[in-house]
Amino acid sequence: MFDAADIRHLPKPELYEELPRQLDGLLHGERDLVANLANAAALIFHSLPDLNWAGFYLMKDGGLVLGPFQGRTACVRIAVGQGVCGTAVAERRTQLVADVHAFPGHIACDSASASELVVPLIVGGEVRGVLDLDSPTPARFDMTDAAGCERLVEVLLRHVAP
Ligand code: SME
Repeated sequence: MFDAADIRHLPKPELYEELPRQLDGLLHGERDLVANLANAAALIFHSLPDLNWAGFYLMKDGGLVLGPFQGRTACVRIAVGQGVCGTAVAERRTQLVADVHAFPGHIACDSASASELVVPLIVGGEVRGVLDLDSPTPARFDMTDAAGCERLVEVLLRHVAP
């Protein structure tokens, strides 16, 4: 059984050194997409402080569909270009949103969410989905979180082919 040390208290630079290593170890030797996304969502949710939602949406039939996550129930389908997640797909880049209520078209799944970080999963030049993190604290995420979560997605994509 994989036993991740509690690293939530670490300063961000150390946290984002350690967390990709833990994710790599957690997914080692397993290729199942749902299993790996589920464990990645759980590890991230319980390792990064001050989150109320962490998980994945996957591209299916031209739109995003809810995948494995931790947190309250969420909206199932998001169109490309819609909300923060759909914008990450349309623009093919990470979205760092300090105040979700000021983001045009933001989709409020959990009214507790105040800020959001979305990283696209790009495989072979094609967007296959997104990693979505929500926080109840405004401006919870900064460039260190964005770079760290892009690193997590790199590690994840080495273990799955969504
Ligand atoms: N807020 C997101 C929708 C997904 S939930 O946060 C889980 C958005 O605007 O795309």
